[in-house]
Amino acid sequence: MIEKPFDTTAPQIAASVLSADFSKLDREIDEVLRGGADFLHLDVMDGHFVPNITFGPPVVKAVRPITKLPIDCHLMIEDPDAYIPAFAEAGADMISVQQEVCRHLHRTLQHIADHNVLPGVVINPATPVDTLLEVLPMVHYVLVMSVNPGFGGQKFLPLAVDKIAYLAELREAMGLNFRIEVDGGVAHDTVASVVKAGAEMLVAGSAVFERGKTEQNARELLDLARAAASA
Ligand code: DX5
Ligand code: ZN
Repeated sequence: MIEKPFDTTAPQIAASVLSADFSKLDREIDEVLRGGADFLHLDVMDGHFVPNITFGPPVVKAVRPITKLPIDCHLMIEDPDAYIPAFAEAGADMISVQQEVCRHLHRTLQHIADHNVLPGVVINPATPVDTLLEVLPMVHYVLVMSVNPGFGGQKFLPLAVDKIAYLAELREAMGLNFRIEVDGGVAHDTVASVVKAGAEMLVAGSAVFERGKTEQNARELLDLARAAASA
């Protein structure tokens, strides 16, 4: 999917707007951009796969013209195939689907790529990395959940660290170059462990969005991630 290997010593922040103030979303997005975030992570929840409801394609469409940041849509929904065209049309640059809901995961990932969107696959804390072996060559990124999906502000589950390290080993052994993303409880006290294990795309919601401190929080988190990557 990506032509050349990317620089794994340069971790990137994907700001999860779930923790933002939605009444001032444009300002919140500006702040994370100034703080050095590289992606906007939009959490789509349907009240079925996860016990929470957020938003759908209209919000992606509303955000698209107000930022140059790539939009990373994390679909925590059942039957993602039915909605992929709408998210692509709305302006998503990257779409990830949960392995647990995809009966035909290969087809779903191909469906995303056919819409000119970079495909990603997500695994919950209880889902083994090995369930992805056959699809690793076709994904742009693998998202390792470090909380059970549904809510921001949950406690980081350390079992994610070994899964990230195993994925990084597989990437090397298989000669692939997908990115490794991690989502849930990534904060100032956990970021070094996931970066050292091999994650490059760091989703952060509650650790970043804080009234009056968003820009500073994003910058501090990125600095910690960079320090861990070069240590
Ligand atoms: C949880 C979502 C996350 C969430 C992360 O299901 O997928 O993206 O916003 O929030 P924090 O960073 O607060 O754990
Ligand atoms: Zn997410």
